Amino acid sequence: MRSRKLTFTQLWLGAVAAFAVLLQPRAGHALVSPRTHAAAATLPRRRRPARATSEDDHDECVIIKFVTGNAMKLREVEEILGMNGLPLPLEMIDIDLDELQESQPEKIAAAKARLAAEACGGPAIVDDTSLCLNAIGGMPGPYIKWFQQSKVELHRLLTDYDDKSAFAQSCIAFSPGPGAVPLVFSGVCNGTIVSPRGGSGFGWDAVFQPEGSAETFAEMSGEAKNAISHRSRALALLAQHLKGDRDLLVDLCLEYATDPVFLEDRVHYRET
Ligand SMILES: *[C@@H]1O[C@H](CO)[C@@H](O)[C@H](O)[C@H]1NC(C)=O
Repeated sequence: MRSRKLTFTQLWLGAVAAFAVLLQPRAGHALVSPRTHAAAATLPRRRRPARATSEDDHDECVIIKFVTGNAMKLREVEEILGMNGLPLPLEMIDIDLDELQESQPEKIAAAKARLAAEACGGPAIVDDTSLCLNAIGGMPGPYIKWFQQSKVELHRLLTDYDDKSAFAQSCIAFSPGPGAVPLVFSGVCNGTIVSPRGGSGFGWDAVFQPEGSAETFAEMSGEAKNAISHRSRALALLAQHLKGDRDLLVDLCLEYATDPVFLEDRVHYRET
């Protein structure tokens, strides 16, 4: 049981770390607060009972929630984590989290991961994806989700522009539990906006043709997309940080395990 004082200290450290994140240069780099970095590297390993070989035997009930309303995105994230040595079943949690009005996606993702961990009382991953069209000053960026919901035809936005270039950015934020400083990693994939082609994938995959490819994401197999995508780059950085070590990840989650605190005034549940 953690005391209130410690929780306050953690929040304060969190605020300091969040500030440190602000001061970091932008780009496809990992934004890792020093405290969490040190914690992950030096965490004392708990003595755990020998694990049964059964696949169903979840490590001490550590279940990581992935915040999304999109089952295909969830599956993609599981596949990518598996490719990177972290074969973890994630549990989908479809909740609306307060979103910062903010143009820096790393900060949006970090804030959402904090809220998600508090709401779940356990580890949570959020993915904040931006799609930035260079001809129109990087819009819609993090607002892509609302453009999609309004069925805006992205390729038509660029009709009057010669520059069809764009980049996709995924910010993955992982919180091992309530009160923890989230780890935030960003991955970028450059490409071009084209007329929709292909039937696989999801979201705007059909209008995004990544650099060096003749196919849109929606024309590619899942493996081909995951070899180059913004999301796989960001998740690979997270996996690297955790040394592709499933036990390290589980220990980190257990360190912050607590009872769920439902922040009903801040989080609206669509499903339970
Ligand atoms: C994307 O393009 C920008 C500039 O056009 C470049 O600086 C960056 O390295 C590229 N990133 C990737 C992942 O190709």
